[in-house]
Amino acid sequence: MKKTLQQKAEHILDSNFKTEGEFTIPCENLYPFQWFWDSGLIAIGFAHYDMQKAEREIKTLLKAQWSNGFIPHIIFHTETDSYFPGANFHRSDLHPESNPKYKSTGMTQPPVTGFVLKEIYRISEVKESTLKFIETQIDKVYDNHRYFYENRDPQNEGLVYIYHNWESGTDNSPIWDDIWETMNPPEYDFERRDTTHVDPEERPSKREYDHYLHIIEIAKANNYNDEKIAELSPFLVQDPLFNAMLIKSNESLIELYNLIGGNENKIKQLKKWQQKSKTAFNDKLFDEELGAYVHYDLRNEKALRYLSSSSFAPLFANIPDTEKAETMVDVMMEKFGNENQYLCASFDPTSERFNPKKYWRGPVWVNLNWMLYNGLKQYGFNDIAERVKTDTITIIENNGFYEYFDSRKEMHKDNKAGYGGNNFSWTAALLIDLLNE
Ligand code: DGY
Repeated sequence: MKKTLQQKAEHILDSNFKTEGEFTIPCENLYPFQWFWDSGLIAIGFAHYDMQKAEREIKTLLKAQWSNGFIPHIIFHTETDSYFPGANFHRSDLHPESNPKYKSTGMTQPPVTGFVLKEIYRISEVKESTLKFIETQIDKVYDNHRYFYENRDPQNEGLVYIYHNWESGTDNSPIWDDIWETMNPPEYDFERRDTTHVDPEERPSKREYDHYLHIIEIAKANNYNDEKIAELSPFLVQDPLFNAMLIKSNESLIELYNLIGGNENKIKQLKKWQQKSKTAFNDKLFDEELGAYVHYDLRNEKALRYLSSSSFAPLFANIPDTEKAETMVDVMMEKFGNENQYLCASFDPTSERFNPKKYWRGPVWVNLNWMLYNGLKQYGFNDIAERVKTDTITIIENNGFYEYFDSRKEMHKDNKAGYGGNNFSWTAALLIDLLNE
C-alpha cells in the first residue's frame, strides 16, 4: 500500500528518534546530535501522534540546561566524527556554569521552547495530563528567558543579542556578509564534514567557516563569559527572528502560567519583559522605508537593511500593529510572492545576494513557512496564509522531505529542487502540523 504523506513524515521522525539518548536528530550524518530549535519544532510533530515522544524530546533538551538558565544550541549526546566542529572544539566545560553531565556548544539558538509547550498543549487530547507535564518543565523555560534578559541585553533595551551566526538559526544568511566584511580571521586548518554529506554548492564556503570558527575561538578564550563576549565579539546582532521567538515564547509562558495557576510574580515579570521588548522591537527594528523588520548590528551600531524571511516572522509573535502588518504583507507579496516563486524565499529574491540553492541564502525553509502561515492567519490574511500552506505541502510532495527547497517554480519541473539534508525532521514535523490543523 502506498504511504500517505503523513505516514512518510511519521516514519522520518520515528527513524530519527534515538532511543539511547531519547532525542531526535535533525537528519542522519549532516546533523547527528540534538539541536535546540530543531528539537522544539520536532516536538510539535510528535505531539500529533506520540505525545510521549514529544514530551521526552523537550525533557531531554531541558536536562542539558546550564545552571545559569542557558540552553545550548547543540547537545552532543553521542560520539561521532561525522560532524565538524564537535564537542572537543566547542569545549562547553570552559564555562563555570555549564552542565557537567552534557557536552555541548557554548552558543544558543532561537528560544522556541515556550511557544512549543503551548503548541503541545493546543494539540493534546488529554489536556490535564499535558498541563501536568508542562508544569514540570515550565520554570526551566522561564529561567532561560531570565538568562536572556539578564545576560544578553547590555544596554537594557528589551532586545537580546546573538553573538554568532549559528545562534540565529539562519546560519548562512547574506545579511552576515556585512559582518564578515568587518573581520579578517586567520585561515584555519580543519576538515569539514558537512560537504562530504551534501553538495558543497548548497553549503557555506571554507572562508565563511573561518569566520564562524574565529568567533568561537574568541568566546572560548574568554570561557564563554557573556560580558566579555558582549565586549569583544565581532558578531553582536539584534536579530528580529530570534527576538520574535523570545516574544512569542513570553506570550505562551504567560498563558500557560495562567492555566496552571499561582506564579503571579513570574507572570508579572514576563509581562514587563514583554511590554519592553515589543516596544523596542517596533521602535528599533522596523524599517519604514523597506516596510518590514531588519537586523541591527550592535557591534558596529548600524541597521543591516535587508529583507529576509526573518523580516516577516514577527507576524507570528503578534509584534506589528495592523497597519505595519499590512505594509509587511504588501512588501512580501511584491518581492517574494510573484507567481514564479514559491513562498517564502529565505532572502530577498530581488537582491544580488540571493542564491536559491545555498543554505539560508534564498531557499524556502519549512520552519519559517510554518511561522509565516500561523502569523498570517493571526492577522486575518487567510488567502495568503493558504498559499504558504499549499506551497509548503506541494514542494514536499514533489521533492521529498528536504532541509530546504528552491524557491523558483521552474526548478521544480524535474523534482530535484530539494537541497541540504534529506529526511529532515522539522520538515516532517511541521508538515504533520499543517496537515492536521
Ligand atoms: C551547521 O553545522 O551548519 C549547523 O546548522 C550549525 O548549527
